[in-house]
Amino acid sequence: MDSLGLFLPLMLLCCQWTAVPAAEETYWTYTGLVGQSEWSQYFPDCGGSSQSPVDVVTTQTKYDPSLMPVTPLGYSQHGNKPFTLYNNGHTVVIDLPDWMGLGGLPWLFTAAQMHLHWGSGGPSHGGSEHTINGQSADAELHVVHYNSELYPNISMAMTQRDGLAVLGILIETGEETNQAFGNILNYLSRIRHADQKVSIPAFDIQALLPTDLGRYYRYNGSLTTPPCYQSVIWTLLHERVQISQAQLLKLETVLYSSKAEDADRMLLQDNYRATQPLNHRAVFSSFTAESGKELTSGEVTAIVIGVMCGCVGLAVIIRFIVKTIRFFTLLRNETVVVNSSTSSWDVLPSNRPAPMPRTKEPEKEKEQKQDMALNSTSEAGQKEEPSPSLQTEP
Ligand SMILES: *[C@@H]1O[C@H](CO)[C@@H](O)[C@H](O)[C@H]1NC(C)=O
Ligand SMILES: *[C@@H]1O[C@H](CO)[C@@H](O)[C@H](O)[C@H]1NC(C)=O
Repeated sequence: MDSLGLFLPLMLLCCQWTAVPAAEETYWTYTGLVGQSEWSQYFPDCGGSSQSPVDVVTTQTKYDPSLMPVTPLGYSQHGNKPFTLYNNGHTVVIDLPDWMGLGGLPWLFTAAQMHLHWGSGGPSHGGSEHTINGQSADAELHVVHYNSELYPNISMAMTQRDGLAVLGILIETGEETNQAFGNILNYLSRIRHADQKVSIPAFDIQALLPTDLGRYYRYNGSLTTPPCYQSVIWTLLHERVQISQAQLLKLETVLYSSKAEDADRMLLQDNYRATQPLNHRAVFSSFTAESGKELTSGEVTAIVIGVMCGCVGLAVIIRFIVKTIRFFTLLRNETVVVNSSTSSWDVLPSNRPAPMPRTKEPEKEKEQKQDMALNSTSEAGQKEEPSPSLQTEP
């Protein structure tokens, strides 16, 4: 395995000038003659044992507390130079400036490009490459970076283990228009055919990402398209982003995989690869199911109602217990109750709210003292605000 793992990249490196361009000329698709199941005949790595995408079974992920949040570097510093949006017949690509990068990984990774994968049936009909517990999202964004600490450029890095780092973001359909994604989707009609390009205003790439960059899944995998090099450190973010249904429709229906001059137009749809076997690979998670679990408003309401019900229930139970104790105590001290007109509290000394006789006694004393004071002041003549201690002297 190890020698093969070393041999393959070396062979690919040696043959880069001949084999790879030849392979790249092979026209591959997702279905049809050179569909997914045939990829490995033309691109041997596609038949490897560490392929992507994968289904993330959350109960089988391993929590790794050493996984720090990923940090987009310079994603928001887009500058004034326009971006280029490109329909390559397989997806829509934006090349990223080389000052953008990804931190929080064992090496510094420099951004190269980003692209999308999607389906054809609208919301809840698949489109993402990675799945979570067998469930697809509607689309997926991939931001591709290469290991610029170890390799001089992406073509050198892409064949090497740890050569690439791809940030995967699951996209689902929501109510609101996603303005950040609008920066891409609004221009798709300008690149409907394969090989077409358009310059678009630069925009904040970080705005495409969800806010929580601390919770993600990490595993070793591959490019999800031929030549399927097994060179990718994958980071699949747990939090998803939402685009509107109209935006998803645009993504699914505007582009063609065929060229402008082609007689038969082919819609560019369902450009996602089926999930690949894990083959004993581990999928790590940067978080546990419980840690920092964000509560929805529904969950918060449920908890509040639950706590309130619990308190009321507890009060009812306590009241019942007290009443029961009181009842039996009353039975035992029947004579006491009959003979004295004390309140039921008085037969439970420990539950007395206050020792009534003791508070009454000082009050009586006080009254007597005040009477005396009144008497003494009337005797002593004019004296303002008489204090009882003084007035008891005579
Ligand atoms: C990448 O780097 C290698 C080695 O320095 C060089 O031979 C090759 O031409 C570079 N490729 C590109 C696309 O820049
Ligand atoms: C990926 O592979 C490298 C080299 O074999 C290994 O050191 C690393 O732990 C692996 N990472 C994951 C997330 O499996």
